[in-house]
Amino acid sequence: MLTLLVGGFFGDEGKGKVAAYVVLAKKYKYAVRTGAINAGHTVVYRGERFRLRTIPAGFVNKEALLAIPPGALVKIDVFFEEVSKLGVDGRVLVDYRTGIIEEAHVERERGDQVLASIGSTFQGVGAAMSDRVLRRLRLARDFSELHKYLCDVPELLNNALDNGEKVFIEGTQGTFLSLYHGTYPYVTSRDTSAAGILSEVGIGPKRVNEIILVFKAYVTRVGEGPLNGELSYEDAVKLGWVERGTVTGRPRRVAPFNYELAKRAVMLNSATQVAITKLDALFPETRGVKSWDYLSPRAKQWVEEVESRLKVPVTLIGTGEEVEDIIDRTRDVGVEL
Ligand code: IMP
Ligand code: MG
Repeated sequence: MLTLLVGGFFGDEGKGKVAAYVVLAKKYKYAVRTGAINAGHTVVYRGERFRLRTIPAGFVNKEALLAIPPGALVKIDVFFEEVSKLGVDGRVLVDYRTGIIEEAHVERERGDQVLASIGSTFQGVGAAMSDRVLRRLRLARDFSELHKYLCDVPELLNNALDNGEKVFIEGTQGTFLSLYHGTYPYVTSRDTSAAGILSEVGIGPKRVNEIILVFKAYVTRVGEGPLNGELSYEDAVKLGWVERGTVTGRPRRVAPFNYELAKRAVMLNSATQVAITKLDALFPETRGVKSWDYLSPRAKQWVEEVESRLKVPVTLIGTGEEVEDIIDRTRDVGVEL
């Protein structure tokens, strides 16, 4: 069983929470995270808050093996800091070909005018990606301190699927930050779509069972670039929709849920399921609700509208920060996870 998790808007849809829930509740054996350290995923589990830039959010399932694939980019200090903070040494695997971001990449981006104009996070990710394209990036296999973690991740995961095991791949950022499908040049340095995620991991498209597209109940964007229906900071504060970036601490720009973008994201990713996060930001009375039956009529109606307009079942609904603050409709809707 192979499940992919993809961001539907501009990142920060709450992928960390959804990934953690699914890997834990559905007992996935492998949790894989694509992308790089510019993407921060937050997991709040049993009162503790974790900010992840490298390790998959599925780490909360202590039985899960955690894999970093060839197409991901890792920075060694960030990697070791996370491994020790989360206590996951012994179940983390890094592919031989995973790219390594070095200080020189961060230096090279500093002061860059184009990157400043798009609102880059300046984490050295674009510089490292460009080195990879120019065939001069050093890979995980070139760093002795990583040797004990190294493994052939595509082989491991394809074999696991052959053996009927469950693999969960957590994409980073969102569809409209994709280098190809996003609002270029206001995009990140990789293809964040479902196909790009698979390519980063080394698993073919025919092996995918489920593609969960995650939308927040409203849209946020950090950095520059178009944002239709953008609200003023004051209105965002009134609605309680102001957030700050996990990596940069910048305030996020906000807009109401956008059906046009959502439909396009469904198309670009061939989504089979939709997860909605932060329903409680639209309907405060839904906070902490864990069953569909206890949702208010107006909240149900809103979710049903999403479902009917996108023509994809809404299977998971976040109602609070905690991993377990979620309504799981998979059984009711008749889909497997
Ligand atoms: P860069 O990829 O770090 O250079 O950033 C390029 C653009 O993508 C900027 O607008 C960033 O704010 C945005 N971006 C990159 N990573 C994330 C993320 O994880 N969440 C939200 N926005 C991101
Ligand atoms: Mg984030």
